[in-house]
Amino acid sequence: MKQDLIAILDLGSTENTVLARQIRDLGVYSEIHPHDIAAEELKALGNLKGIILNGGKNRVVDGKEVEVGAAVYELGCPVISIDYPQSKCETRFDELPGQEALKKFLFEDCQAEANWNMKNFITDQIELIRQQVGDKKVLLALSGGVDSSVVAAMLIKAIGQQLVCVHVNHGLMRKNESESVVKVFRDQLHANLIYVDASERFLGKLENVADPEQKRKIIGGEFIRVFEEEARKLAGIDFLGQGTIYPDIIESGTKTAKMVKSHHNVGGLPEDLKFELVEPLKQLFKDEVRACGVELGLPHDMVYRQPFPGPGLGVRCLGAITRDRLEAVRESDAILREEFARVGLDKKVWQYFTVVPDFKSVGMKNNARVFEYMVIIRAINTVDAMTASVEKVDWDVLERITGRILAEVENVNRVCYDMSPKPPATIEFE
Ligand code: XMP
Repeated sequence: MKQDLIAILDLGSTENTVLARQIRDLGVYSEIHPHDIAAEELKALGNLKGIILNGGKNRVVDGKEVEVGAAVYELGCPVISIDYPQSKCETRFDELPGQEALKKFLFEDCQAEANWNMKNFITDQIELIRQQVGDKKVLLALSGGVDSSVVAAMLIKAIGQQLVCVHVNHGLMRKNESESVVKVFRDQLHANLIYVDASERFLGKLENVADPEQKRKIIGGEFIRVFEEEARKLAGIDFLGQGTIYPDIIESGTKTAKMVKSHHNVGGLPEDLKFELVEPLKQLFKDEVRACGVELGLPHDMVYRQPFPGPGLGVRCLGAITRDRLEAVRESDAILREEFARVGLDKKVWQYFTVVPDFKSVGMKNNARVFEYMVIIRAINTVDAMTASVEKVDWDVLERITGRILAEVENVNRVCYDMSPKPPATIEFE
């Protein structure tokens, strides 16, 4: 079964994703493509029911006025333009269409069916994965993040034991995170899961390394090496599963969207390890990935977790990582998450975490002078992580968290709240 499709051609609008979401929210599948896509390519996409030319008043890409190829108008489906007065189309939307105008275009003009939903999507993907993979094996780096977890759940459903998951614990995970990956995937979903505890190896490589970029490089590079070692031990793997999602594709795939960052979970594997990619989420936006995870039966906490950087707590234990400070970051982070969940802030705040700098301050404990570390709490809201504002956390909540951190976390005598927006600060400290 293939869903009906509405293609949005990007002629310079910055609102392509908003429109794609609007259409999907009405139950019709939509994809964004560059303005110069060939008509045959559009046709090959499947059940193409309509085309929207999205460019605004001027239709400018890279400083040049653009138009689509003449053959696009002859594909036999309705073509509508947004806002461009000189458009060759008969009809146009004067601006991003409202619900009613869009409904009319989709269901009357294009005769599209509202058959885009998670159940159908999963059924389709399972079929496609089985066709692609046959009786071969797929390897997946399972970090426990939303995307890799949802890919794993989907692949388990599609090919069961032909999927080999590798979970590398780099020692910089949050409290109980690796345990929860093993519990959910090995014990509950019966995945073929290889768990590699590489904590000592990572911490050894990071000893005395204070430069943030150097730390990130070591963690990323070592991750690839551990994963590669595991891959080499396993004979007969032809495919690599990846949690690529739709924004990753459109950020690099359309003409106007700027490349924000390269997203390759396990990019950098050596050339001689040749895998074909299996990317079953590459058509989904982030919230759709979460909905897909829920539909596949993953626990709510795993699907709705906040973003967590690849280098993990390594970039929150500032400067050269030491075990005592790493433990202080891990324990204080767990307390913060527990307390935010208790008052519902976990559902409101976009990202929140603790940081432990690499210097000490003087304090008093049990009537004696102490010289210990501080914990900094950060809680921010953002839409796209490019800018961020600070959450105005209730004073009582902060007091309670502070009390718990000072009572329960070793080697800490001070708690601070970070008031800095992004910019000039970044969300993470390193
Ligand atoms: P910054 O610190 O640049 O962070 O304001 C923006 C967002 O990106 C997350 N982040 C990362 N995510 N790998 C990731 O997958 C990374 O190396 C990484 N570094 C930062 C950060 O947590 C925030 O949400």
